[in-house]
Amino acid sequence: MDPVYEKVDRCYKSIQERLPFTPRLALILGSGLGDYADGFPVEGTIQYQDIEGFPVSTVPGHKGRFIFTHVEGVPVVMMQGRVHYYEGYPMSDVVLPVRLMRRMGAEVLFLTNAAGGADCSLAPGDLMLIKDQIACFVPSPLIGPNVAEWGPRFPDMSHIYDPELMEAVRESAADLQIDLKEGVYLQLTGPAYESPAEIRMCRGLGAQAVGMSTACEAIAARHMGYRICGLSCISNMASGMTDKPLSHQEVQETADRVAPLFKQLVSASIRKIKLKVN
Ligand code: HPA
Repeated sequence: MDPVYEKVDRCYKSIQERLPFTPRLALILGSGLGDYADGFPVEGTIQYQDIEGFPVSTVPGHKGRFIFTHVEGVPVVMMQGRVHYYEGYPMSDVVLPVRLMRRMGAEVLFLTNAAGGADCSLAPGDLMLIKDQIACFVPSPLIGPNVAEWGPRFPDMSHIYDPELMEAVRESAADLQIDLKEGVYLQLTGPAYESPAEIRMCRGLGAQAVGMSTACEAIAARHMGYRICGLSCISNMASGMTDKPLSHQEVQETADRVAPLFKQLVSASIRKIKLKVN
């Protein structure tokens, strides 16, 4: 058996009996959105450290557990804390949680993150719908033998972010009178923030937001046939766009400030997604 497949399989078998229900939607909570789960009656929790072989996040502000709850009647598995490539895990471990949640039964993946704004049409605190991505600065999670059970060797990436789900988020933002921005998300490895020259390069390549997660998860997810939507909280202006040095503290503070709006938009979007995928 392929070792990457086997690891996901082993993780699944070790938690199978602890799943309170079959989730339909998987939600990855980025920086600042981690406490989103607190507003719902929790029906089950699995700590990452209790799953054999599961990568555990080492970043402050990222907890490490799956939470099972219903949002707007939809059975959801949420990740409170994700794993980043810069933490030193191989890419196959970074996307293992995404694959595991698919194995649990999730069909829709809702990705969220905090990101730097690389475009002057964005401001800290803005919410940005991810309409496409640039992932070629990080290794592909699909490198290695293809697991045919998961997906094809050369998967199509023309519509990574599902047009119907994007529409659900747009409609929800309009209902909530949120000025939702849209853009391309570019993933770099981090952990250093970018230099101003790198940000000019990102902008030149057509990115509006930059971050250190998400795009690799989306590739692994699309390979497996998930329907995906993604939302960035613009936590800071990217390097060189202001005189201010970048800090993780600023990222967390902005994400905390916008969290109430972010949560409303996520819940309203899940309600609409339910109508679209049923
Ligand atoms: N760059 C990269 N990742 C980030 C940033 C940034 O400016 N802000 C939040 N995550």
